[in-house]
Amino acid sequence: MSPVSKDSVLQQFQNTYGYQAAGVWSAPGRVNLIGEHTDYNSGLCLPVALEQRTLVAIALRDDQTVRIHSRQSDETYLGTVEEIGEDWAAYPTAVLWSLAREGMTVGGLDLVVDSSVPVGAGLSSSAALTCSVALAVNDLHGSIFTRDQLAAVCIRAENEGVGAPTGGMDQTVALFARPSTALLVDCCDGTVEHIPFRLREAGFELMVIDTGVKHSLADGQYGLRRTQCVDAATALGITTLREATAEQAETLSDPILRARARHVVTEINRTALAAELLRNKRFDKIGSLFDGSHASLRDDFEVSCAELDVAVTAARLGGAVGARMTGGGFGGSAIALIPAGESTSVAESIRGAFAARAWPPPHFLNVDPGGAAARL
Ligand code: GLA
Repeated sequence: MSPVSKDSVLQQFQNTYGYQAAGVWSAPGRVNLIGEHTDYNSGLCLPVALEQRTLVAIALRDDQTVRIHSRQSDETYLGTVEEIGEDWAAYPTAVLWSLAREGMTVGGLDLVVDSSVPVGAGLSSSAALTCSVALAVNDLHGSIFTRDQLAAVCIRAENEGVGAPTGGMDQTVALFARPSTALLVDCCDGTVEHIPFRLREAGFELMVIDTGVKHSLADGQYGLRRTQCVDAATALGITTLREATAEQAETLSDPILRARARHVVTEINRTALAAELLRNKRFDKIGSLFDGSHASLRDDFEVSCAELDVAVTAARLGGAVGARMTGGGFGGSAIALIPAGESTSVAESIRGAFAARAWPPPHFLNVDPGGAAARL
């Protein structure tokens, strides 16, 4: 099949529906540099948008029918605007439901979806899909919602429409990222800061290691961590763990809640430090924060898995200056910060470690920070 491009989705639209789409919109996947499981604690996170994107070709219809063709699975969903579909179709149809809940009069439409964002790799293919659909439908309805409102629409679509309890980082970066920058998101008040992220100029590369272990946000563990964070905040008499100090976290009597709170508090501090290092272009110092983040996610938040731990250790042994799991965890991807020119030895080290355990080989992506959702 031809690679994912504006022309390929337009051609697919013509082939599937027999007429021309009104246009093509796209939104990026993301990797989070640091600030994991902090977004739903009103904390800080520091994602970058990927150049890998989800594309949607779309046209409005004058009835209530919704047709969505996925180029990846070569399936066409057929429903009406009132219904939320299943499987992959749940995401775009939940966006229509969520836009309608916000007051948009959403009619029928035809869509073609294609994506270069790996699915289930912890790189936020779901937000790339929801945000591209939301922006496309909003633009075709006269741009009645702002990007802030669209982020809220997409978060509700995923949380309530699909039943996937995402925290908001992914939708924010998909809608607000800028090329060659990282996005510092303060999830307490929703403010964002674009921090230049020109790794190559500083002599580094950022590698994504997709372990191939499929993660699912809806399998209960993510929701359980959220509940534990709320319980820890309640036990401390505060609204969210953003308000807690490291000393306060240590006063929690329940060892599980204490460990969860310790992760959140220390991770928010690491993220603030990483942002400051980025502002000062001290990429060389960020690696140790990656290492600290991974240890905290593994030991205190307990969201890592054997494959992520092995990928991180092997990346460090292969020459990375820092490595950590990224995203929700329980599988998905890790990232490694690598001095320019050493990515081959890092990849070799990780491949070797996986082969020694008879695990399927992981996949590697190089990160070049891309821009936000847009019409192409
Ligand atoms: C998933 C969620 C995000 C965030 C991360 C963990 O990617 O969608 O909102 O909570 O996990 O940092």
